[in-house]
Amino acid sequence: MLVKKLIDQGYLSKEEYILLLEQYTQEDKEQLRKRALELKEKYYGKKVYTRGLIEFTNYCKNNCFYCGIQGKNKNVERYRLSMDEILECCQIGWNLGFRTFVLQGGEDPYFTDERIVEIVKAIKGTYENCAITLSIGEKSYEAYKKFREAGADRYLLRHESANEDHYKKLHPEEMTLQNRKECLYQLKELGFETGAGFMVGSPYQTNECLADDLIFLKELQPHMVGIGPFIPHHDTIFAQQEKGSLDKTLLLISVLRIILPKINLPATTALGTLDAKGREKGIQAGANVVMPNLSPTSVRKKYELYDNKICTGDEAAECRGCLQRRIESIGCEMVSERGDSAVLRE
Ligand code: SAM
Ligand code: FES
Repeated sequence: MLVKKLIDQGYLSKEEYILLLEQYTQEDKEQLRKRALELKEKYYGKKVYTRGLIEFTNYCKNNCFYCGIQGKNKNVERYRLSMDEILECCQIGWNLGFRTFVLQGGEDPYFTDERIVEIVKAIKGTYENCAITLSIGEKSYEAYKKFREAGADRYLLRHESANEDHYKKLHPEEMTLQNRKECLYQLKELGFETGAGFMVGSPYQTNECLADDLIFLKELQPHMVGIGPFIPHHDTIFAQQEKGSLDKTLLLISVLRIILPKINLPATTALGTLDAKGREKGIQAGANVVMPNLSPTSVRKKYELYDNKICTGDEAAECRGCLQRRIESIGCEMVSERGDSAVLRE
């Protein structure tokens, strides 16, 4: 009954989400998956968009408890890519057919607003028709405005948890859910294609937390949502915690496609790390984006957010080829377009 209600109505109440998450059967999951696929195909057909991920710095001033590259971790060998190295990643990516570059990094004070603006302008100046996504954390409204004016198109900032108590269990006290949410609303206001999201199965996460996430996302109306399983990192306080469940991540991908049908929804690297066919399963559950790595192989292992991250030894071309085969093996087509969110097509 809840499944039917979710499909017909496109949302549930908090209590109903909790019940669904507690009681769902494999049959419910399959029904939701089928509906999610129908919706994905309605807006995106069989296309799977690709984004070239450039992990340009692993320095970070924050200490999110779950994250392997948090500032306090003394065992990380830190690196920053130079402007030339970033442009070289873009060149390799462009030649491989990528039309979106995602610049992701820790919150690294070296990369001042001015330096980010310079990088965005340099990439846009070289590859006019590309889209640039920034994923560099919480900044001021003024900073976001400068990035936007410099030509950045999209911004990924997972909210991590929309439940106040849970958020506090994942972050040190100087980080607040309120600020994270404000950043997301500011990004939307500035005209970024905005992405939020969360980990599935992060420590202390309950079904109530997940229900709060789904309600927050429906309210925010983002253009994209990134979710992936939590995977422990050996140097963090969560080293001994359970990893997130594949089954539940796939269920939530389908639920997100149903409640926000037009969003861009990636099948994440964490999902591919959890299960050898995780990304294929993600696409078959309603995802429509993959984000292969374009970072130089020399730095890949140093951007270790969690243990056993896949693709750390592969050249960009290998990753692209591998993903293309994977996508084709499930009857989909990897495409070379900017891949703007269908939310913008209204
Ligand atoms: N610093 C930026 C930020 O905070 O948005 C971007 C980089 S941050 C490392 C990217 C994402 O990695 C986070 O939003 C988080 O959800 C995810 N992540 C970090 N540690 C993880 C872990 N142990 N397992 C799964 N995902 C993780
Ligand atoms: Fe990188 Fe498969 S996607 S090797």
